[in-house]
Amino acid sequence: MSTPLLELRDIEVRFRHSVAGAAPWAPAAVLKAVDGISLQLGAGETLGIVGESGSGKSTLLRAVTRMQPLHSGQVFWQGRDIHLLSPRDMQKLRAKMQMVFQDPLASLNPRLTAGQIIAEPARTHWPRGRRGDIRRKVAELLERVGLSATMINRYPHEFSGGQCQRIGIARALISEPDLLLCDEPVSALDVSVQAQVVNLLMDLQKERGIAMLFVAHDLAVVRHISQRILVMNHGKMVECGSSAQVIDTPQHAYTKELIASVPIPDPVAEKARLAAHRKLAAHNAA
Ligand SMILES: Nc1ncnc2c1ncn2[C@@H]1O[C@H](COP(=O)(O)OP(=O)(O)OP(=O)(O)O)[C@@H](O)[C@H]1O
Ligand SMILES: [Mg+2]
Repeated sequence: MSTPLLELRDIEVRFRHSVAGAAPWAPAAVLKAVDGISLQLGAGETLGIVGESGSGKSTLLRAVTRMQPLHSGQVFWQGRDIHLLSPRDMQKLRAKMQMVFQDPLASLNPRLTAGQIIAEPARTHWPRGRRGDIRRKVAELLERVGLSATMINRYPHEFSGGQCQRIGIARALISEPDLLLCDEPVSALDVSVQAQVVNLLMDLQKERGIAMLFVAHDLAVVRHISQRILVMNHGKMVECGSSAQVIDTPQHAYTKELIASVPIPDPVAEKARLAAHRKLAAHNAA
């Protein structure tokens, strides 16, 4: 088998929380926000990540980029342990894995124009890139994400939420990444705009062969965009399998509950959800 683009081996992230009411000298409580996750992601593949709030999804994405230090475990990029990379190599790698965040407006610097925001990561990607080339690339990306090159000098507050998310995506694309880490990229958008942004991400992915880790609460979106889905609870992997398998025939009680708790606007998945809901209700009544 060829080397995966990304591999996580038994990674654990811990946080220490002081316990309310405890003596000052009492040891802090340890929270395992990510608890022994292992997975592989191939080039161009999308893995959806679902789980209730606080299950460790965002922490997992941050651990992949080394923004969040690991307590234990290893992260491999094309077979190389990223914790052994020199700062210079790590900086190069960061250009290859880009984040797309939940709150489009808050994630853009309000003092920079759309053009400056999109161009910013290009400084590390093309340290000696000529200004004219970068400007041309920015204009091209603005058009590619469904905006207009004439918007290059506008500030974030002059765009709608959906347009801001398109700017965030263009910014993520300028360094020609191999992996997009999307942390609830459409949760803050209204439904019609959500579909447009999801379709844009899927088109770009096909066009450029980009892999994705895609976190979302909306199971229909996750099922639509992902080849495989990872279900997390309390930092642990509950199950991981093909999207159809996880959503239509979930194996684990936690996944069944998660699916039963949210309506899915997809006839096949919705049928499975209702069946799971009825089964759970019957089980609880027994
Ligand atoms: N910097 C931090 N310091 C301490 N605890 C943290 C920190 N970041 C996250 N946590 C805790 O780690 C756990 C996992 O948080 P995380 O943000 O990864 O969850 P999530 O699955 O992304 O949730 P949501 O769906 O609400 O975004 C939570 O219990 C959270 O309180
Ligand atoms: Mg989160």
